[in-house]
Amino acid sequence: MRGKFVTVEGIEGVGKSTNIDFLSSIIEAKGFTVLRTREPGGTPMAERIRQMLLEHGEEPLPDIAELLLFFASRSLHISNTIRPALAAGQWVVCDRFTDASRAYQGHGRGLGLERINLMAQWVQEDLQPDLTLLLDAPVELGMARAKKRGAADRLESEDAGFYQRVRDGYLGLAAAEPERFAVIDASRELEQVQAAITLAINRLLSNS
Ligand code: TMP
Repeated sequence: MRGKFVTVEGIEGVGKSTNIDFLSSIIEAKGFTVLRTREPGGTPMAERIRQMLLEHGEEPLPDIAELLLFFASRSLHISNTIRPALAAGQWVVCDRFTDASRAYQGHGRGLGLERINLMAQWVQEDLQPDLTLLLDAPVELGMARAKKRGAADRLESEDAGFYQRVRDGYLGLAAAEPERFAVIDASRELEQVQAAITLAINRLLSNS
């Protein structure tokens, strides 16, 4: 039986890593094997593309080139990691996926959703997440938490206005596809956030 594909989204500093640890552990406790992966990245070549995207490079990166690099990385990731794992019956838990391109490049950079959705069709074909957890928190909270992690990468160096567009973009995507998204208020205590995550996974299991 094909495994489930779960993606986790949100602006920086909303606690993705901690909550992905928790999410993976509850899926494993239900007896499934979990492949935990991330975007950009998730294969050796895609990780090299990640480096190009996050470093402060030696030349300006046009928005379109940025978008194409995210999709190049995604194409490698889907073919070489995600599809084989799902076909082998594993669950795939992915830290960011195409919704990040919609929110960051589509809304944050202002590229719009039309060409991103076109590229998504091309690169993903029939592959869609079964569930997308959107960890949502106010921009000021996320940025304050992210700052504590140390030196900012190229995307973390964007201003609050950019992150506000990204957050609003994510919330708009979730409102448009309520059956795929679970929006989780990540500004609450960890216990409450984790209870909401457990509920979303139980719902996914009971619907399948
Ligand atoms: P992270 O894995 O530490 O969250 O870093 C990935 C960064 O890349 C993060 O700032 C979000 C950004 N990103 C995009 O802008 N578009 C995308 O499609 C993806 C997957 C990530």
